[in-house]
Amino acid sequence: MRKIIFDTDPGIDDAYAIITAMKHPDIKVLGICTVAGNKGIEFTTTNAQKLIKLMNYDCQVYKGAKDSLLKVADDAGATHGIDGLGGVPLVYDKSSLSSISAVDYILNTVKENPNEIEIIAIGPVTNIALAIRKDKETMKKIKAIYTMGGGVYRGNITPVAEFNYWYDAQATKEMFELGVDVPIHMIGLDITHKSIVTNNDLEFMKMTGGELGQLLYDMILPYVEAYWKFSKYTGCVIHDLLCMIYAIDQTVCPKEAIYHSHLEVSTTGITIGQTVVDIVDSWKQPKNVYVPLKVDENKYKELFFKIVFGEEVAEMYRKYVLS
Ligand code: RIB
Ligand code: CA
Repeated sequence: MRKIIFDTDPGIDDAYAIITAMKHPDIKVLGICTVAGNKGIEFTTTNAQKLIKLMNYDCQVYKGAKDSLLKVADDAGATHGIDGLGGVPLVYDKSSLSSISAVDYILNTVKENPNEIEIIAIGPVTNIALAIRKDKETMKKIKAIYTMGGGVYRGNITPVAEFNYWYDAQATKEMFELGVDVPIHMIGLDITHKSIVTNNDLEFMKMTGGELGQLLYDMILPYVEAYWKFSKYTGCVIHDLLCMIYAIDQTVCPKEAIYHSHLEVSTTGITIGQTVVDIVDSWKQPKNVYVPLKVDENKYKELFFKIVFGEEVAEMYRKYVLS
């Protein structure tokens, strides 16, 4: 059983990733740590609690940083709907919020489970940087970090920076310094934008996915509208879901296109948050990141349908959508 901790700013695409992990038979989500990003910390925290209640899952939420180390913004505005989960009416239990902070929960859990914990970091990485500052030796005992963020050849919030890393560039810089000791996989915009979930995919999910399929469909509508408004996509990019699916099965990205490289992060000026990835090893610096630059988008989406809705739905997806 894989033991994972989420570090997240739910967030519609975060919700898809978290629900996928909760549905996977070989994964135990030990806890959900929250951070400000898509929305402020109060929203991202109650949104995480809503997802636990929705999935009737046995874990708690650990509230994290409300401000980034290097603050550039309050949140991502309305991309994820007014409440961060597309406005879908969900309830939660106050008891699902622990009194332990996200940083202390990460450190305590890694100490108790050395070399077993995998962190799925799908928001700004402020909590991870604070944990490293507090106890780097413990953080070196993390089994792996899968982080959605960055981009070798593009940005989304600026021409060169991706939102999570732009939102806290200093924390991103400090996280990747750990990458020499801990395997860090960066699922960036280069491949998330090569795996658009189309409106047809979403309609299929609504028609075959039962109550959960309908809820996930309703949840993602504001996100789809934003992608049509800003990118003229007839669908959307569920960034965090690709990070989770890659963490589950790395073969969604061809091995020969996963680059073990040196990465630097800009923390100043117009390039703040930019990830500079030396995939040609020109700097001969220590390698601190694995960056996949190709993705099998059909395999990714098929895996999502299989894990969340079952083999029968996945078979229908292959037969009636992909073929
Ligand atoms: O740039 C995409 C990332 O920023 C995703 O994690 C999304 O949820 C937002 O946090
Ligand atoms: Ca996110």
